[in-house]
Amino acid sequence: MTETKISSPKRILIDTDPGIDDSAAILLALASPELQVEGLSIVHGNCSVDQGVRNALAVLELAQATEIAVARGCELPLVQPSLLAPETHGQTGLGYAQLPPPRTKPLAQHACDFLIDRILSAPGEITIVAIGPLTNLALALRKEPRLAAAIKELFIMGGAIRHEGNTTPLAEFNTYVDPHATHIVFHSGIPTTLVPLDVTYQCILTEAHLQELEKIPSPIPAFLRQATRFYMEFHDRYQAIRGCVINDPLALALTFQPDLCDYETLYVDVDISGGVCMGKTFADFYRISGKPANLRVALGVRAEAFLDLFVQRIAALSQKLLSKEVK
Ligand code: BDR
Ligand code: CA
Repeated sequence: MTETKISSPKRILIDTDPGIDDSAAILLALASPELQVEGLSIVHGNCSVDQGVRNALAVLELAQATEIAVARGCELPLVQPSLLAPETHGQTGLGYAQLPPPRTKPLAQHACDFLIDRILSAPGEITIVAIGPLTNLALALRKEPRLAAAIKELFIMGGAIRHEGNTTPLAEFNTYVDPHATHIVFHSGIPTTLVPLDVTYQCILTEAHLQELEKIPSPIPAFLRQATRFYMEFHDRYQAIRGCVINDPLALALTFQPDLCDYETLYVDVDISGGVCMGKTFADFYRISGKPANLRVALGVRAEAFLDLFVQRIAALSQKLLSKEVK
């Protein structure tokens, strides 16, 4: 008899500013047997860090995953003034969704120390998925320079390479909110995959996807409906998009299904000079600078395959939780 080899799940930490699409990414991670979520580190961004902590705990409770640690991180960017996104994610960060106040608490430890401890205790084993401004990670790298060599791999949702910006005409939200942190992380030497707007803006969750999920009478599709209703109104009003772009879940999915995207390995940088290009990410496609490549950049995506995967995984998680409740 041939034995099927089941590889052990990939250990991940998610650094996040939850956030509507962040919450969808957290749910996708919990729905994916290829991953073992070892904790969430929370950063300012879509909402304040305190609101982000509440949202993370509430989403974990919704998914019956309260054993996962949540650590509160930075409330401000390294240099820039604070910039939150209530027009995109609503006052609470979760659109029109109203989750009960969480019953669990975050760790007492700061997210930067949490990242350092977890990663140094398992050098070369932990993958980070960073789906908010990069302040926590940059500060952790400055506090503990050995961190860079101990991280297995880093996936960043951020930047706009050939794509227009979504926060300034040129810059994407996560890189614009903390460009100095982005600069530190891009030049840290961590094996990094960048997942910019070039690919995420092709991944649009629509009414049809939500209706498919709502066939399962679980609180998870109901949550996604109320959260994304706000996000869809934003996309319709400001960007003439019917549906909503689920940026962060794509970055998460690439950790276990990299063939959803096509990549180029390039020298990439971010502008921190304070002018009209502040926070803009750019790649040296023609190798003009002579600088060595520092990032693998996702530049093509099989959007339909990704959206199918997202819907199937969330449906399976919803069904699993429903069956648990019936028992
Ligand atoms: C990024 O910014 C936030 O609005 C989303 O959560 C995502 O991480 C997209 O620009
Ligand atoms: Ca985010």
